Amino acid sequence: MKSENIFRVIAFGDVIGDPGRKALFSVFRKIRDKFFPDLVVLNGENAAHGFGITQPIVKQLFENGIDVITSGNHIWQKKEIFDFIDKYPGLLRPINYPPHTPGHGCAVIQKGDCKAAVISAMGRTYMDPIDCPFQRVESEIEKLRKEGINIILVDLHAEATSEKQIFGWHFDGKISAVWGTHTHTQTSDERILPRKTAYITDIGMCGSIDSVIGMKTSESYRKVIQHLPVKFSPEEDGSMEVQGVVIDIHKKTGEATLINRIKEKVG
Ligand SMILES: [Fe+2]
Ligand SMILES: [Fe+2]
Repeated sequence: MKSENIFRVIAFGDVIGDPGRKALFSVFRKIRDKFFPDLVVLNGENAAHGFGITQPIVKQLFENGIDVITSGNHIWQKKEIFDFIDKYPGLLRPINYPPHTPGHGCAVIQKGDCKAAVISAMGRTYMDPIDCPFQRVESEIEKLRKEGINIILVDLHAEATSEKQIFGWHFDGKISAVWGTHTHTQTSDERILPRKTAYITDIGMCGSIDSVIGMKTSESYRKVIQHLPVKFSPEEDGSMEVQGVVIDIHKKTGEATLINRIKEKVG
């Protein structure tokens, strides 16, 4: 049961192509009926055959209970993204791309008597050197606070664990939660930081775990061991899992009260 004072969020990790979306929707109702979330966020950067996202997939996700789609470095991979990225307030690209990049990095969602902001941000260590995520997120928080929004959630799409951890410490007490994505491997370090920000380094992915981060192992073998060119594709077989987190936030204070991992086997 959930108290009336609690705003509950579920965030799902990067959904890997068609197998990931099928896995997600085969257990989504069960997860929703168990937790009764107020807001559901999903990282969609790999939703279209492992790379990028298409408009039919965006529609499918929004029509089936996903409130906000965050993303990361793969968001631009399907060329048609530029035709529709500005059409959907809930479809985000990392906020710290340079000014005038198409799309937007923050969505404010009204749910019942609560307004919550979701920010998609991206790290820079071993990744593209885009604008500083710390400064950019800080200025966005300032803006949101002036609008009276105290539930602020960040998907930090980053490679380096250390960058994610310092992000957590830097924003502890300034946001309700930050969760990591991009490495597609769920970490077991979920916790509430001292100033009541929920934190986890990586929430994982939705797709086959008999794979290399959701992609076919044979292709990784070719690329990493044989050093041959390869076009990666999502693993369609093996054990499927839907991974993410559930986070409880106090509606009045914006402080996190709980963070638990979701790691649901499919089939
Ligand atoms: Fe990803
Ligand atoms: Fe990524």
